[in-house]
Amino acid sequence: MRRTLVAGNWKMHGSQAMVRAILPDVCGRLQGVATEVVVCPPFPYLLLAAELLQGSSHALGAQDLYPGASGAHTGEVSGQMLRDAGCTWVILGHSERRAGKCEDDAAVARKAKAALDAGLRPIVCVGETSSQREGGLTFEVVAAQLGAVLDGVGSDLAASLTVAYEPVWAIGTGLTASPEQAQEVHGRLRLQAEAFAPGAGKVMRMLYGGSVKAANAASLFAMPDIDGGLIGGASLDAGEFAAICLAAEGMSWNK
Ligand code: 13P
Repeated sequence: MRRTLVAGNWKMHGSQAMVRAILPDVCGRLQGVATEVVVCPPFPYLLLAAELLQGSSHALGAQDLYPGASGAHTGEVSGQMLRDAGCTWVILGHSERRAGKCEDDAAVARKAKAALDAGLRPIVCVGETSSQREGGLTFEVVAAQLGAVLDGVGSDLAASLTVAYEPVWAIGTGLTASPEQAQEVHGRLRLQAEAFAPGAGKVMRMLYGGSVKAANAASLFAMPDIDGGLIGGASLDAGEFAAICLAAEGMSWNK
């Protein structure tokens, strides 16, 4: 059975005051939940967030890393540093980085391997643009994105990956993939992972991301291959984020 997981990607939002306001509120609303909850604020707030999450069952994640332990890499942050700051998770290959920072599949694969080597659990994002979907390329695009990471980490470590399917056209747009559209992609990705490393696909958690709200979360999370969500805008509102996490409760029973 795969435990449901909801991760909040704060992107480049927040302040110390916001971290101090949101995290205790989220913890208060989510006491005793079975769903695994991860919060991913920007780098400067990780230490503060780690302090505020102490004593809760919720975990801390970062939004990127540099695939090297240390060295002359101005402005970069390594997996070891993230562990040192209290992170156990890291988001990799977000479409905003693939598009805006020219991260290609090979770079994402290197980062995934570096994350695992540092003892972090990577959430690897994949997803097609609207023109790729319209051109019938959705499965080809996401299969290439996942395939590069599977090849990069190898069959022994494949089961340690978490995948987030985030259609680019659904991110921050208010357009959500329908549960059926998302399920179709998740199902294909799971088959691909299972074919690459038998057993891995069955245990690998696959999150959906893209305009998830409290109002649409339950119908998405009820799909057989959707194990939770990667939440952007709605993770900046404690009440909304907690409601999304609560929508995932009890959804792992048959997965
Ligand atoms: P939104 O939930 O704001 O659409 O963002 C999704 C996302 O990009 C999470 O990584």
